[in-house]
Amino acid sequence: MNVLDLARTVRDWAPGLTPKIGIVLGSGLGDFAARVEDAQAIPYADLPGFPHSGVSGHAGELVLGRVGGAEVAVLSGRAHFYERGDPREMAVPIATLAALGCETLILTNAAGSLKADVGPGSLMLIADHIAFGPNPLIGVGVDERFVSMVDAYDPALRDLARKAAKATGIALSEGVYMWFSGPSFETPAEIRMARLVGADAVGMSTVPEVILARHAGLKVLGFSLVTNLGAGMTGRPLSHAETKSEAAAGGERLATLLAAVLKLLAE
Ligand code: HPA
Repeated sequence: MNVLDLARTVRDWAPGLTPKIGIVLGSGLGDFAARVEDAQAIPYADLPGFPHSGVSGHAGELVLGRVGGAEVAVLSGRAHFYERGDPREMAVPIATLAALGCETLILTNAAGSLKADVGPGSLMLIADHIAFGPNPLIGVGVDERFVSMVDAYDPALRDLARKAAKATGIALSEGVYMWFSGPSFETPAEIRMARLVGADAVGMSTVPEVILARHAGLKVLGFSLVTNLGAGMTGRPLSHAETKSEAAAGGERLATLLAAVLKLLAE
């Protein structure tokens, strides 16, 4: 099925909804999907080309509905590069959102912070990224593959996110997200390198999706929920269990911030 057929399937499933905003929910952040009003959920299994194995900590469904007065298409569940070594894991879902008429993609993730004063539970607005892995546009055989990544994280949307943070009283730092392939966590030496090259947080997702989204002409906004300090910063080993429990704890605040962003976007 091509993406136009997929978009038609989604439209038939949720008639009357014409979402302009897509959202990707990261590990443990699935609670946001519960805030979607008039929700119509389509299992990824019913959408050929959408990931349906290896989706961790997620429902694995596309949820259409309304939040804060805005119509949204929520990808509740992502697949990661580390599943199969394919940076195009999320290519079909993102292209489908674009074909559906989405103009903006809001991405969320769980991340390790490189700043001791931005600890677990903190929210970071992504200002820019460092791709430390293969590009998802490799093999796309047209000139459109030469996508500019200047202001990839849309400055006007970032302004709006800061406004939403202020309005809700939620602390929001801003920084550079660096993508590591995973699935093992980084070494302490890699964390020191990441800091040296200008990263503020590290994680295993989002970056290929941002490149795919820019290629599809979508505006991008990204948030990291800090679940831990980077490897070697505390003397304790990192664990996926900690990532999931901290993401669940902070997820509510990120959901509130997202709802405020959507409200501003709907105005
Ligand atoms: N490293 C990579 N990915 C992550 C981390 C981390 O420290 N925390 C949550 N996701």
